[in-house]
Amino acid sequence: MIGIFDSGIGGLSVYREIKKILPGEDYVYYADNAHCPYGEKTKEYIIERARKITELLVGKGADIIVIACNTATAAAISTLRAEYSDSGSSKVRQKMLSLSGGKRDHIRFIGMEPAIKPAIGMTHSGVVGVLATAGTLNAEKYRNTRDLTHGNVKVVEHVGEGFVELVENGELSGPHAEEVVKRSLTPLLDAGADTIVLGCTHYPFLIDTIRKVAGDGICVLDPAPAVARHLSEVMDDECLRHSSGNGTSIFLSSGSDSILKKMVGNLC
Ligand code: DGL
Repeated sequence: MIGIFDSGIGGLSVYREIKKILPGEDYVYYADNAHCPYGEKTKEYIIERARKITELLVGKGADIIVIACNTATAAAISTLRAEYSDSGSSKVRQKMLSLSGGKRDHIRFIGMEPAIKPAIGMTHSGVVGVLATAGTLNAEKYRNTRDLTHGNVKVVEHVGEGFVELVENGELSGPHAEEVVKRSLTPLLDAGADTIVLGCTHYPFLIDTIRKVAGDGICVLDPAPAVARHLSEVMDDECLRHSSGNGTSIFLSSGSDSILKKMVGNLC
């Protein structure tokens, strides 16, 4: 079973891409909306949430976990891999075995990364814009990727201020959504960006509004399809494809599940 989690419903933008290429797998999705947004939280706080959610997902039967959240990936993936993957302590291995009913003593993690590399190959203006949370933009992981790849391309960044709240409230379009999007997108466009990277999994739900505000000639990139392909390759390589999967999906949340249910309904 594939476990997927995010601070809220944003990770559904990744789930829908994964489901397209792995329709027969079983899924358990966890929206940590009682603790959303993650974007302004400390690294320690996010790591603690990620540990709890990992154990919950393993307990539900997950044997591979997709961190469908750029902020949580940047903050926690290296800790999760150190603790729950091959090199974990014997105490954690025992715990995993007991949570998984004796099936697994370690777990594989797949994370998100803003699509800077493809954007750098695509820009004509030589300026790439990245929209993400403060947590992602300030993280060492993101900064290292950017610094190692940008070459002669200028990378400009902005927090998508209020974007997560729009999505969690189900407000994906309309004059107010456009106004909110415009405030964070305009500085990137003014800096000459012709390629905009969506570095938060909530933002693809605003893609029509972002495209409308950005206008013609601006390319908007969502990394979710590439992450889904990567997951599929890893599962093939590590024999994690489940021939017995029924294509069922379970959706859980730490807070109210009304928006989760509504968004899932819209995906189907
Ligand atoms: N969807 C998340 C991300 O990809 C985080 C949004 C938030 O909780 O701030 O970064």
